[in-house]
Amino acid sequence: MLKRFWLWLGRLIGKLVFFFAVVGMLGWGAGEAYYAWKFSGPVSSEEQIPPNEAALTRAIIEDTVRVVEQHRDNTRVLRDAHAKAHGCVKGEVQVLDDLAAELRQGVFSEPGKTWQAWVRLSNGNAYPQFDSARDARGMAVKLLDVPGEKLMPGAAHAGEQDFVMFNHPVFFVSDVAEYRSNFAAQADGKKVLAFFPSWDPRTWEIRHLIIALKTLAPAPETPVATTYNSIAPYKLGPLNVKYRVVPAPQNCPPYQLPEQNTELPNFLRNALYQQLSLDRAPACFELQVQTQNPQYYMPIEDTSVQWSEKISPFQTVARITLPPQDFDSREQNLFCDNLSFNPWHALPEHRPIGGINRLRKAVYEAVSAYRHERNAAPQAQAPASSGL
Ligand code: HEM
Repeated sequence: MLKRFWLWLGRLIGKLVFFFAVVGMLGWGAGEAYYAWKFSGPVSSEEQIPPNEAALTRAIIEDTVRVVEQHRDNTRVLRDAHAKAHGCVKGEVQVLDDLAAELRQGVFSEPGKTWQAWVRLSNGNAYPQFDSARDARGMAVKLLDVPGEKLMPGAAHAGEQDFVMFNHPVFFVSDVAEYRSNFAAQADGKKVLAFFPSWDPRTWEIRHLIIALKTLAPAPETPVATTYNSIAPYKLGPLNVKYRVVPAPQNCPPYQLPEQNTELPNFLRNALYQQLSLDRAPACFELQVQTQNPQYYMPIEDTSVQWSEKISPFQTVARITLPPQDFDSREQNLFCDNLSFNPWHALPEHRPIGGINRLRKAVYEAVSAYRHERNAAPQAQAPASSGL
């Protein structure tokens, strides 16, 4: 009797597994077919600005400033994103000697030129949590003494060209409208539900939820061992590009970081300190660009879509070196906190494009101004490179 029962149960489980495997395969196939249809080119190579974007942007700024105040540390108002720095370090960005003629634009116009820079490495969260927590990791690069009129007028950032990135290739929302609804839901404490705004399955953003979950990744061994992506697109003279910074240990003398204690809350700062300050070993990266081919699905207005590297591979335009240095002083950490990075601190040749970048212009400026005012701190002016 018992034997027959077990055989029956075994057959039932087998059939159920088979059923769910078939349903899963069909769902996966349907999803692939849907996205192959939805994500097919050609696309526009121009920006397309929805009429309600300005109003949505104003609403997002209000929400953001409110959230910054909620995140307030006991003493200081921190950034609304990427609040915790592993350090602000000095860097050198050298344009390739043999850069292709069409890529010689803006700060890359002079082959061989070396720019001095500040590089801020960070965790993505608005709270300064333990480095072992799953999170995105940020890199912001500020080139100094860059001549020429910038996109944001004002003396404070007149000589700066910023590149602002994190270590995932896509963003968890497509555009400003979705950012508004998702951010508002998250501010109300909805995490996963933020991706399911209504009962209507057509509004469900399962692909974006998966991106959000993947973005919150375990920490790299050190902040110099992960790839940082612009995610959003930019002009490069007449071209549309995305850029990224990839580790390039092959450009540096061989170095092995001793194993770090990842239980320590700030082990990413410790790793940076170990390499640059104790072992006096430089860290090397390459700055690369990927050009848009509008014949394929490489949209300007959707940051949740990765541009195919098969169709348009990344090309190196410059080498970045973080030389051996002492960076972990009270003064430099405070200076770092008071720095402001903004993709719009830029030459017109590097103009940020697409909805998410247009949104960032106003939001970064507002949050930076707010935290500086609340901290009674002057905008840290990145000194001319002679003062580095
Ligand atoms: C392409 C997508 C994005 C990337 C790659 C990115 C990356 C970063 C990074 C690396 C930082 C830290 C900069 C630093 O070290 O000071 C930062 C700061 C910040 N981000 Fe983003 N971000 C993106 C999208 C957004 C969006 C859509 C918003 C909100 C509308 C936003 C709001 C902020 C704010 C408020 C700060 C702090 C600004 C300050 O106080 O100076 N970011 N972001």
